[in-house]
Amino acid sequence: MRLQKSAFAAFAAAARATSLTDVCTVSNVKSALPSNSTILGINVLPSLSTANTVYNYSGGSGMMGATSTASSETYNFCNVTITYTHPGKGDTVVVNYAFPEPSDYKKRFYVAGGGGYSLSTDATGGLEYGAVGGATSAGYDALDGVSYDEVVLYGNGSINWDATYMFGYQALGEMTKLGKYVTKGFYGQSSSSKLYTYFEGCSDGGREGMSQIQRYGDEYDGAITGAPAFRYGQQQVNHVFSSAVEKTLDYYPPPCALDKIINATIAACDPLDGRTDGVISRSDLCMLHFNLSSIIGEKYHCAAVSSTSLGFGFNKRAGEGSSTSYQPTQSGTVSAQDVAVAQVIYDGLHNSKGERAYLSWQIGAELSDAETEWNNNTKKWELDIPSTGGEFVTKFVELVNLDNLSNLNGVTYDTLVEWMNTAMVRYMDSLQTTLPDLTPFQQSGGKLLHYHGESDPSVPTASSIHFWQSVRSIMYPSLSDKQSLHKLEDWYQLYLIPGAAHCGTNPLQPGPFPEDNMQTMINWVENGVKPSRLNSTVTAGKYEGETQMLCQWPSRPLWKNNSTFDCVYDRASYESWSYEFPAFKLPVY
Ligand SMILES: *[C@@H]1O[C@H](CO)[C@@H](O)[C@H](O)[C@H]1NC(C)=O
Ligand SMILES: *[C@@H]1O[C@H](CO)[C@@H](O)[C@H](O)[C@H]1NC(C)=O
Ligand SMILES: *[C@@H]1O[C@H](CO)[C@@H](O)[C@H](O)[C@H]1NC(C)=O
Ligand SMILES: *[C@@H]1O[C@H](CO)[C@@H](O)[C@H](O)[C@H]1NC(C)=O
Ligand SMILES: *[C@@H]1O[C@H](CO)[C@@H](O)[C@H](O)[C@H]1NC(C)=O
Ligand SMILES: *[C@@H]1O[C@H](CO)[C@@H](O)[C@H](O)[C@H]1NC(C)=O
Ligand SMILES: *[C@@H]1O[C@H](CO)[C@@H](O)[C@H](O)[C@H]1NC(C)=O
Ligand SMILES: *[C@@H]1O[C@H](CO)[C@@H](O)[C@H](O)[C@H]1NC(C)=O
Ligand SMILES: *[C@@H]1O[C@H](CO)[C@@H](O)[C@H](O)[C@H]1NC(C)=O
Ligand SMILES: *[C@@H]1O[C@H](CO)[C@@H](O)[C@H](O)[C@H]1NC(C)=O
Ligand SMILES: *[C@@H]1O[C@H](CO)[C@@H](O)[C@H](O)[C@H]1NC(C)=O
Repeated sequence: MRLQKSAFAAFAAAARATSLTDVCTVSNVKSALPSNSTILGINVLPSLSTANTVYNYSGGSGMMGATSTASSETYNFCNVTITYTHPGKGDTVVVNYAFPEPSDYKKRFYVAGGGGYSLSTDATGGLEYGAVGGATSAGYDALDGVSYDEVVLYGNGSINWDATYMFGYQALGEMTKLGKYVTKGFYGQSSSSKLYTYFEGCSDGGREGMSQIQRYGDEYDGAITGAPAFRYGQQQVNHVFSSAVEKTLDYYPPPCALDKIINATIAACDPLDGRTDGVISRSDLCMLHFNLSSIIGEKYHCAAVSSTSLGFGFNKRAGEGSSTSYQPTQSGTVSAQDVAVAQVIYDGLHNSKGERAYLSWQIGAELSDAETEWNNNTKKWELDIPSTGGEFVTKFVELVNLDNLSNLNGVTYDTLVEWMNTAMVRYMDSLQTTLPDLTPFQQSGGKLLHYHGESDPSVPTASSIHFWQSVRSIMYPSLSDKQSLHKLEDWYQLYLIPGAAHCGTNPLQPGPFPEDNMQTMINWVENGVKPSRLNSTVTAGKYEGETQMLCQWPSRPLWKNNSTFDCVYDRASYESWSYEFPAFKLPVY
């Protein structure tokens, strides 16, 4: 202990004495590189290394899809690129690292997740934590903004497996291993000393985080994963489900009618959690006690709009393909058909035998994928297949190089189940990302903070719960519920964010959102302060500014009065979140 302390003091003194210009040189980077075979599978090409100082940088947060905590801080850092190849392969992968000024460096390494089909291109997300950060080209120019779906097929029927595995998990894992090695050399830190390593991401970034702790568990000390877009085969095909429901029922609801159904559901279910604040904090009680049929006959009105949609996720191409759509004035009353569409969607996909294939969004979540399109010529609402799901089916399932499905002719619920099964099997060990045995991560002391908006309209909230349950039952098969819960919460905690949407707040429900997850995680990893609640702040509405310490799953909030809630457990609610998927022969974790 005494020795370590004095070694640290010596290092700290050395660090203080060293300036950014001293360390930010190509020769310092080269001297920190691993020789070939030091990291199995990575041969660095030293002559292609670059290093440049960047001063007064005020950059993004690195992690895509987050409500960014815009900080006015500026940073000085060393911008480094390193190129490596996979032995014998002749490929090149470029990794970009941002090294904080030596006096700011806190022996941390930070990996930010991307979103949609894009890995993060920003290496600077760690600077605010005194951490080195990294980003990777993944071998397909991802640093230049190329997204994986642009390269997934070489041509029709021909999958680019290198890009698939790199996007799936390998590129980030290699970037982290190499980055940690170089970091120690760069700052003159001993190779055996601790370098705290964090991951933070949401949506596909959440899936990427899960991929890292599943595949490179002992590299990470803490992972913060929001609304992970994992169980990839099911998740991506599920984006076509709402359209398939409309096609099957042969009814295309006016968007305003669905909006009204959501608003009326929020109004009806908001008080069930004990406080009327515009937020459904207990979508389970809503599911158990509210019948959508009671909305039939309610009036709706929406003014005409010309809107520009940016489309799915944070995909570069979705941005380019943004389209302006026109909706006429909509006035009417909610019909039984409108409610039927909403109900079948919230019930989730079943095959023609009535066997469940997938779970769905929580009741009260927006029905984004169900949005129909106005046809100015026929003056009718028509099918609008979301390109999220459409493109996945064309490129990843059918293997044809088309950006979207053109129609759903002949597509039944059984077809969707087949598509899911094909994708699950085909990408089982690359994109599916649901390996439930996290033993290496857990045994090396890793901590997982997993969160999910309870009204997420893109990745169903229950998808996260299903994974949590899989981990619990695979890792603690012989323990009682109580015992396994106790073991799990020591290193894996899941929080649902009341009313929140996909990786952010929900304009329809002014609820809380956590904004200092990294602080919580650093405290857990470095100071041993295990959280039991998750700090979050209400960002709009009557209770704006209120702090809510969120309940840890499986306990659920129940307001006692307008200012205090308890975290309670009740079996009926818990069971309403539990699913089995008998439509598949294989287990679905
Ligand atoms: C490491 O391997 C790469 C090719 O895989 C080669 O270009 C490079 O020179 C090797 N480095 C050393 C130090 O041998
Ligand atoms: C960075 O900002 C500081 C304070 O505004 C200023 O003194 C300094 O000259 C700036 N450095 C560079 C390289 O622009
Ligand atoms: C870091 O260097 C790379 C490669 O030279 C460059 O593309 C990137 O823009 C630089 N980043 C910053 C923040 O200066
Ligand atoms: C639903 O509620 C939001 C406000 O929360 C409002 O802006 C919107 O117009 C409402 N939509 C309908 C169809 O009532
Ligand atoms: C909801 O109400 C309708 C009409 O009263 C009824 O047919 C239906 O069975 C109810 N649904 C549930 C889940 O109770
Ligand atoms: C659709 O028709 C309306 C008038 O009926 C017009 O104002 C609008 O510009 C048209 N939109 C498109 C996209 O053609
Ligand atoms: C996808 O294709 C469908 C059917 O042609 C179309 O309605 C929809 O607008 C397309 N979506 C995008 C984002 O291109
Ligand atoms: C790939 O398949 C699609 C759909 O069948 C077709 O439209 C396209 O022309 C094909 N592309 C090539 C390069 O053959
Ligand atoms: C909760 O998070 C906010 C926003 O980051 C922070 O200001 C506050 O100190 C945190 N509170 C607790 C109890 O951690
Ligand atoms: C709400 O309930 C809590 C716990 O019972 C109590 O401490 C608090 O004073 C109550 N607040 C109000 C405003 O009644
Ligand atoms: C709680 O707030 C509601 C309005 O949202 C109000 O009607 C009610 O009286 C309040 N309850 C208490 C105990 O203050």
